[in-house]
Amino acid sequence: MPAVHVINGPNLNLLGSREPDIYGRATLEDIETRLTELCAERGVELVFRQSNHEGDLVDWIQEAGRLGAPIILNAGALTHTSIAIHDAIKGSGAVVVEVHLSNVHARESFRHHSFIAPVARGVIAGFGPTSYFLALEALFDREIRKT
Ligand code: DQA
Repeated sequence: MPAVHVINGPNLNLLGSREPDIYGRATLEDIETRLTELCAERGVELVFRQSNHEGDLVDWIQEAGRLGAPIILNAGALTHTSIAIHDAIKGSGAVVVEVHLSNVHARESFRHHSFIAPVARGVIAGFGPTSYFLALEALFDREIRKT
């Protein structure tokens, strides 16, 4: 059965209570629940993870790359700082869709640069939890159907 790995970085465990004006009221569990339903409809396995630690993200990206599983990646603030994540994507050959709940380009300038975007298949930002669902749709359309 094909699988999609969803990897969430620092502070995304706080969704629901964290800066709701920016990130909304949905929790990470709400997002996982909807993604689980969408994957079940298509016969795709969902692996959904969150960590506040950069090394965990590096390990999980390498694992997905080894398995040939595409990744929906919201690396949180590590998006803007992590060369290790950039290298993990490049080195493992993982197919990644970078997602953000908020429109990072309409926010502080330090959020405008992404170390992930140059090694991502695509980027979706600004649609709240729908960013994840759109990313899944893109993977169904462009990556999973052909496997
Ligand atoms: C975020 C945007 C990042 O700039 C921020 O550090 C986050 C969340 C988003 O989903 O909008 O933690 O990735």
